[in-house]
Amino acid sequence: MEKTLSEVIEQRRATPSFDGTPVADADLKKILEAGLKAPSGYNLQPWRFVVVRTPEQRRRLRAASFNQAKVEEASVVVVACGDKDGWRTDLDEMIRMGRQGGMTENYAEQARVNIPEYLGNHPNLTAWLNRHVMIAFTSMMLMAEVLGYDTAPMEGYEADKVCEVLRLPLSYEVVALLGIGHLKGQDKFDGGRFSMARTVFDGEYGKPINL
Ligand SMILES: Cc1cc2nc3c(=O)[nH]c(=O)nc-3n(C[C@H](O)[C@H](O)[C@H](O)COP(=O)(O)O)c2cc1C
Repeated sequence: MEKTLSEVIEQRRATPSFDGTPVADADLKKILEAGLKAPSGYNLQPWRFVVVRTPEQRRRLRAASFNQAKVEEASVVVVACGDKDGWRTDLDEMIRMGRQGGMTENYAEQARVNIPEYLGNHPNLTAWLNRHVMIAFTSMMLMAEVLGYDTAPMEGYEADKVCEVLRLPLSYEVVALLGIGHLKGQDKFDGGRFSMARTVFDGEYGKPINL
């Protein structure tokens, strides 16, 4: 039975160790599709995902990830990337799909002008990619948990080595790794979360929110 989103948000933990049991293909498809449904600026969907499943490739990815054992233990590791040049080739497809879904020709014309201007001169494409890729990544992580799997988000890797192992194009940036499988042993200690008083403001900086 699927967990609810509220249950997942309450119970999700970053899994320290996986038992190696498989992720069903139908579930993996559902997890990936959840990510691809994420929102993105202009609907440009600049994310790319490499799904690492074979023992040999997981072993090589582990070596590129500071030897983190869970990279090899998880039956699936999704390597979430962003493509800095994706918009150049995806713009036409984004407009074609949008037009099919009701985008006006006027909107399409504006997009053809504005997007190259915006992204061709963007001061920080890495930040732009990261904000998009992590939304899709998070959707995948939560869907995996809804389906009863355990997950491990990871930033502990050497990007140049990961690029080499996965034979990524030069325009790709590696954003994060997501291990998916089943927990082996115990979860690690619960680190807790900062209070709202510390992290949430009401209307302006410094004003506590009372809810
Ligand atoms: C983007 C991101 C990168 C992370 N990278 C690693 C990592 O490389 N190795 C690791 O053991 N845990 C990693 N973590 C897990 C965090 O340590 C963990 O989420 C945090 O301690 C809170 O624990 P919890 O998620 O179980 O509540 C990462 C988490 C996030 C969100």
